[in-house]
Amino acid sequence: MSLSKQIEKIKCEFDIDFELLKSNKLNLLELKNKYLGRKGLINNLYLSFGKIPKEEKPKIGLKINELKHNITTKLIDNVDIKEDNNLNYDLTLPGKSFDVGSIHPITLIIDEIKSIFNRIGFSSIYGSEVDTDYYNFEALNIPEHHPARDMQDTFYIDKETLLRTHTSGSQIHYMNKNKPPIKILSPGRVYRNEDISVRSYCLFHQIEGLYVDENVSFSDLKGTLEYFAKEFFGNNIKTRFRPSYFPFTEPSAEMDVYWGLNSESDYRITKGTGWLEILGCGMVDPEVFKAVNYDINKVKGFAFGLGIERIAMLKYGIDDIRLLYEGDVRFLRQFKK
Ligand code: PHE
Repeated sequence: MSLSKQIEKIKCEFDIDFELLKSNKLNLLELKNKYLGRKGLINNLYLSFGKIPKEEKPKIGLKINELKHNITTKLIDNVDIKEDNNLNYDLTLPGKSFDVGSIHPITLIIDEIKSIFNRIGFSSIYGSEVDTDYYNFEALNIPEHHPARDMQDTFYIDKETLLRTHTSGSQIHYMNKNKPPIKILSPGRVYRNEDISVRSYCLFHQIEGLYVDENVSFSDLKGTLEYFAKEFFGNNIKTRFRPSYFPFTEPSAEMDVYWGLNSESDYRITKGTGWLEILGCGMVDPEVFKAVNYDINKVKGFAFGLGIERIAMLKYGIDDIRLLYEGDVRFLRQFKK
């Protein structure tokens, strides 16, 4: 039989088979194999095609391609048929589950802290990671050449613009636009040009807190932070305040929590003391209020800045800070809820 006769024959045969398929008398998989399989009728045609005289090739080739296209569209692209005839799958098989990822430990901690402070009326605001020298230093009573600038090695973008070294600049941004009473948290990422090691990285996260009203005292500050420590670490947590220095608070303090020395990573993270400093705080310095045009005879306030990484490392027993930034799924999967 000539090749073009064979093509005609397969065409007719397919039309009949296709009708049978539609009335469910044939099965889609069998038809696919019969016509489009490796040893199927179409491939057979291509094999014979190699042997015909050269001058017949363009015409016959076109016919085979047309036939193949027609069959493929009907068997593969025709969704209705596909659905009807795929019923030979076992519909009772359990479905495939797929990975939904997990929330990053830093985000888990930030969310938990936000919710603890929300309960006593603090709402959250967000500042920008790129800021100016004025907001990051100047307005916070850290003028140029002030030695406190050495505490925070800064990444400058140009003379005026920098990557913020702490979240305290958001105090200024917020007070510039709002009047007291103020009760805010400002979580976010901050940057310092530090040597990268097990304990420090060039970026980390802080949560700034700011409370400004007419009668705010240091005991309000202590009470608020002790409430936070109890909520976060549990009622039995021991805390201590040590005097400290920040140019934008007066008096200033740091708060430590007693974590104990139960594991090797506790020793490493607390430098063998069992105590860990988790925040800096103090009463807002009048110089800061002057910078935002508040009446220093009327308002008082407290501020604090919490370091997130340390808390996360302590809580989850992470002994290398770099794990928090590498995005290794083997590490991240462990935080799946
Ligand atoms: N900004 C300080 C730091 O990064 C922390 C701090 C915030 C201290 C607010 C006092 C008040 O170290």
